[in-house]
Amino acid sequence: MANQEELFKKVVAHAKEYGFIFPSSEIYDGLGAVYDYGQLGVELKNNIKQYWWRSMVQFHENIVGLDSAIFMHPRIWKASGHVDAFNDPLIDNRDSKKRYRADVLIEDHMAKIEDKINKECEKAHKRFGEAFDRQQFVTTNARVLDYQRQIDEIRARYAELMNANDLDGLKQLILDLGIVCPISGTRNWTDVRQFNLMFATKMGSVIDDSDTLYLRPETAQGIFVNFLNVQKSGRMKIPFGIAQIGKAFRNEIVARQFIFRMREFEQMEMQFFVRPGSELEWFNYWKEERLRWHLALGIPREKYRYHDHEKLAHYANAATDIEFEFPFGFKELEGIHSRTDFDLKRHSEFSGKKLQYFDPDLNESYTPYVIETSIGLDRTFLAIFSHALMEETLEDGSTRTVLNLPPMLAPYKAAVLPLVKKDGLPEKAREIVDLLKNHYMVQYDEKDAIGRRYRRQDAIGTPFCITVDNDTLADGSVTVRRRDTMQQERMPIDNLLMYIHNNTH
Ligand code: GAP
Repeated sequence: MANQEELFKKVVAHAKEYGFIFPSSEIYDGLGAVYDYGQLGVELKNNIKQYWWRSMVQFHENIVGLDSAIFMHPRIWKASGHVDAFNDPLIDNRDSKKRYRADVLIEDHMAKIEDKINKECEKAHKRFGEAFDRQQFVTTNARVLDYQRQIDEIRARYAELMNANDLDGLKQLILDLGIVCPISGTRNWTDVRQFNLMFATKMGSVIDDSDTLYLRPETAQGIFVNFLNVQKSGRMKIPFGIAQIGKAFRNEIVARQFIFRMREFEQMEMQFFVRPGSELEWFNYWKEERLRWHLALGIPREKYRYHDHEKLAHYANAATDIEFEFPFGFKELEGIHSRTDFDLKRHSEFSGKKLQYFDPDLNESYTPYVIETSIGLDRTFLAIFSHALMEETLEDGSTRTVLNLPPMLAPYKAAVLPLVKKDGLPEKAREIVDLLKNHYMVQYDEKDAIGRRYRRQDAIGTPFCITVDNDTLADGSVTVRRRDTMQQERMPIDNLLMYIHNNTH
């Protein structure tokens, strides 16, 4: 765990040092849980968006895009249930005056018990060596079984209380589990209260309630309210999807873990409209499809796991999260939900407009069912970035920091480096930059010794360094050094475009 904490600190420091992520408003001491993406961060983020958009929209002829406004009619949030139910249960510690999410306190408590299970496994692994079988151990070891029973009992009680919106019961559970405030160390808790997560603002100049707008807490509702517009104007036939990437805002009470939980963040969501009765089939399709998307980044399967929801929201008939093993443990990265016809029906009811589809094959109209895939862009950034950052010990005993990003996502695809700053090499290198920049983000760098320049590019994840030397002037060839293997090969300048293309797609 200590190692993981160290790694996480390095991730945050590296992101800032190399221009990926800065705290917002830093010269004014920052703004809680709001971050800015720097010169390299914006490139990586755009590449992730493009990867998502291409695989969802470009590769599916029955999925189209949308860019709906952040401001929407306030009744939308009444219809969607966000005004009445988009709440987090809050609890304060009277001694430290610190505020917590009651559900997070309980989840953290369960995570601590899970840590104990992991420690038992590590100990046993050391004892049994190669012969260790984790599955067998966790299903037979008495201590582990007892820890697991505790987790299961807490989870069952917690789910029941959350479903029943039983705030007194949640407080009692916190007391029964002996949870203390991490700051004051006391159990002097207030009652649990509900806190709505939407940011409200005013539109126009008249101050009255009807002008209260909300910053959208999810992009999905912009898709639902445009269902008919897109279906009719695009002559879409069910099953079809609408995809959208955009900002969402939530007044998170416990905003922490860097860009994992932010107050302003981006979502990449897709609503897939299907025939009633076929939704579970499509749910399973998207569940597998979305995991495949993650795995295509080359991150190992064991870093991901599904978390199927046992207790479902009242409008859902199936739900799963794809969790990723962040440096602070497995946490939700993406949600896949079978949302039934809840949202379209509610918007029909609240707007008075019939949001239905006439199915020519069945010769009847119905309200489509919806499968939603919803992934946080910032969380995806954090997953990819934290997995990619590594310290490597080289054969000569020295170390290097490498950002082992999938080449397709790297901010710069190549750096062009003249070996020395004279003899016409910078001019030749600039010619190569001009050739490549029509197709790729490339960087020119002539400062410092070549070894240091390689290290700088390693640290920002550039997959290829192209070095220009005296032979380049004579025969038009360059040396290409690969980030991961550090191996170098000589090739004609004319081959560069094809080489980069073949290795970054
Ligand atoms: N439309 C469904 C929806 O919004 P959600 O589980 O609340 O579902 C979907 O959010 C995804 O958005 C999450 O899996 C997560 O990746 C991301 N997300 C949610 N809240 C976030 C926050 N405060 N900061 C960063 N990402 C967040």
